[in-house]
Amino acid sequence: MDYTNSKLVIDSSKLIPGKIRWRSPSNIALVKYWGKYGQQLPKNASISLTLSQAATDTTISYSPKQTDKEIELEFYFAGEAKPAFAEKVEKYFASLTNIYPFLKQLHFRIDTNNSFPHSAGIASSASAMSALALCLCSLEQRFFDERLAPNTFLQKASYLSRLGSGSAARSVYPFVSVWGEHSDIALSSNLYAIPFADAVHENFKTFHDDILIISKAEKSVSSRAGHNLMEGNLYADNRYRQANLRLGRLNDAMRAGDLETFGNITEAEALTLHALMMTSEPPYLLVEPNTIAAIQKVQSFRKDTGHPLYFTLDAGPNLHLLYPNNIATEVKSFIRSELTPLCQDGVYIADRCGAGPEELDTNID
Ligand code: PMV
Repeated sequence: MDYTNSKLVIDSSKLIPGKIRWRSPSNIALVKYWGKYGQQLPKNASISLTLSQAATDTTISYSPKQTDKEIELEFYFAGEAKPAFAEKVEKYFASLTNIYPFLKQLHFRIDTNNSFPHSAGIASSASAMSALALCLCSLEQRFFDERLAPNTFLQKASYLSRLGSGSAARSVYPFVSVWGEHSDIALSSNLYAIPFADAVHENFKTFHDDILIISKAEKSVSSRAGHNLMEGNLYADNRYRQANLRLGRLNDAMRAGDLETFGNITEAEALTLHALMMTSEPPYLLVEPNTIAAIQKVQSFRKDTGHPLYFTLDAGPNLHLLYPNNIATEVKSFIRSELTPLCQDGVYIADRCGAGPEELDTNID
């Protein structure tokens, strides 16, 4: 797959200012991507649920470029100028000029907002980078009038998202996505994610993911640094083999709707991710005492009630609670009584699997 295209240069008569807007969700990995090589290529395949509430809403306003800077852009987050983010996005756009030479012809103003509270301890790179990549694919369509078939459009958006943030590649599809080559999964690729909702049991389309905000603090070690530390981790090769085996088993369980196997693998993956952090050189710890207290309560609830409530973790202390819709009433009341006391300011975000990104009207707030 090579998207390099020197022909995508805008005819100056068509350089008319305009806007493009996309809302793109975050996703939560079940088998984790942790360790990469080359240009954001994964050391193992991963699978995720696409979320619905936790999302980024991005508008790109474009006009002819004014200066001879290679990439000319301004970046606003929640209405405030953010020069540090502008610099990151400038670098990202500069890295894409072989694919989209027209990025050098335009001035960009990027306005972005997250649906989840700022500094809720929720990683926003997957939603933010996929929203940006989707805007770029729409720009291509607008200027070059090349109507890509919807699956080709999303595949390209996933490829571009990946170059911004690996996990963002999985955010472009509804409900369930797989990113990375796996021998059991036809058409899987390291270059982009593929849609996977049709391959799994219907149950997952209405699955819940309630996120307990154990701490709102920014994490002490970034994901980028964490991926890099896998280079020197003595367990790395076995980890990649383990992820491969687990994805094979999880694939079977999700197709069959076998929630017990699904939950056992998902929880094992969450703990493995953090074990890899603890076995890096230097080791580090991103879970908090209340993360562990919440895990123990979830496990007791499951034992006492028999309900299939499971947890996973991202690279941080906040616990994601995964469960099917038919036990939502019982789980919500358990969360309110037993788990919110463990959350910072009692906050949790009620999220669930979602239908994926949508292009929005630029005239509506
Ligand atoms: O997309 P990145 O580079 O921020 O890496 C994210 C890695 C995890 O969120 C920890 C796991 C995953 O697969 O999403």
